[in-house]
Amino acid sequence: MPTDAGPRQETPPTGIPPEVEGAPFPYMRWAKRYLDPHDPMSLGLSGVGAPTHLDLPHLADAFDPDVHAAFVAAIAARYGMAPENVHRAQGSSSANFIVYQTLARGGRVAAETPAYEALHVTATAVSATLHCFERTRESGWRIDPASLDAATIDGVDLLVVTDLHNPSGKILHPDDLALLVETAERHDAYVLVDEVYLDFDPAKRPSTATKHQRIVATNSLTKCHGFGPLRAGWVLGDPDVIRRIDEQDDIVNPGSPVLPLHAALAYLPHADAELEQTRARAHAACDRVHAWVEATPGASWLRPDAGITGFIDLDVDGTAFATQLVEAHGVRAVPGAFFQRPRGVRVSFLLGDDELTRALDAMTTTLEALRSNG
Ligand SMILES: Cc1ncc(COP(=O)(O)O)c(C=O)c1O
Repeated sequence: MPTDAGPRQETPPTGIPPEVEGAPFPYMRWAKRYLDPHDPMSLGLSGVGAPTHLDLPHLADAFDPDVHAAFVAAIAARYGMAPENVHRAQGSSSANFIVYQTLARGGRVAAETPAYEALHVTATAVSATLHCFERTRESGWRIDPASLDAATIDGVDLLVVTDLHNPSGKILHPDDLALLVETAERHDAYVLVDEVYLDFDPAKRPSTATKHQRIVATNSLTKCHGFGPLRAGWVLGDPDVIRRIDEQDDIVNPGSPVLPLHAALAYLPHADAELEQTRARAHAACDRVHAWVEATPGASWLRPDAGITGFIDLDVDGTAFATQLVEAHGVRAVPGAFFQRPRGVRVSFLLGDDELTRALDAMTTTLEALRSNG
């Protein structure tokens, strides 16, 4: 059984140790720590191994408890932390969920807006109340301090932001991070920074989780690395928080998905070279969208700092625009309503040159048509 419960004990404990008794799912905490698939006399495990006797050689990898620890070590090294700072998760979505579940269940969440919708609905899913603070375009998508005060006036358990910001593609300003940490300290709360777009930043910053013990960061190989189906994600944070997250995770994850972690480990040594190329393509595509925005009446944006997405404000309704764009031209853009900003669309612009030209032309035609209809 892959373990996140620390090194397996050589000498079996007598009785049930206290740290197991106090856990959210005591049996699974105990099983991860004390049941050993290499133990020839265990009456605690099924004993059904991966069927390597079949002619499916790759299945030999499917029963490899050590890959979990190797993945955790590789992520720790990549983001400047130690293995005890890492919790493995199924993508950023489940990483975010387990952070909300652990740190804000039944409490109060203060999250940015505009925001990736999951960061709002997850509050409700863990029976927390949601209070939004603004990132305003006028300030360069920085946090509006007055709205942060208002959102946390009655207390807060978890403050939530993205870096890079989805949907604007802006880097989280260091002073805004400091403001969030200061607010968290005042309320005995934590700051969750969703870093699923962070690796697009050419500055190659370490995770924000390295900066303060109240910061918890989530990430995955989905967005910057294009490996959504691997569901290879993680949480970075203070060891005490990671231990609490590991314990909550016992309820839904008795083990790790071994094959995806093998694939992730094979990929990670190549990650920086791949990123270099993706960043260059994204930068060139962003130049083209920027030129389009500058030349198009009724459209405006703040150019993203990095990455593959940006938010275009329109002087027409974003849902009507997105609907007409797909119906008349087969081009999809995401209605701004999904980001609590209905007069606009979020665009992800990493297309081939010809496709991007056609998509931008379609946006011009659609916007002209909607504007001339009043
Ligand atoms: C900010 C943010 N977090 C998380 C996710 C989901 O990522 P994953 O596929 O790793 O669950 C997305 C996907 O769009 C996202 O934009």
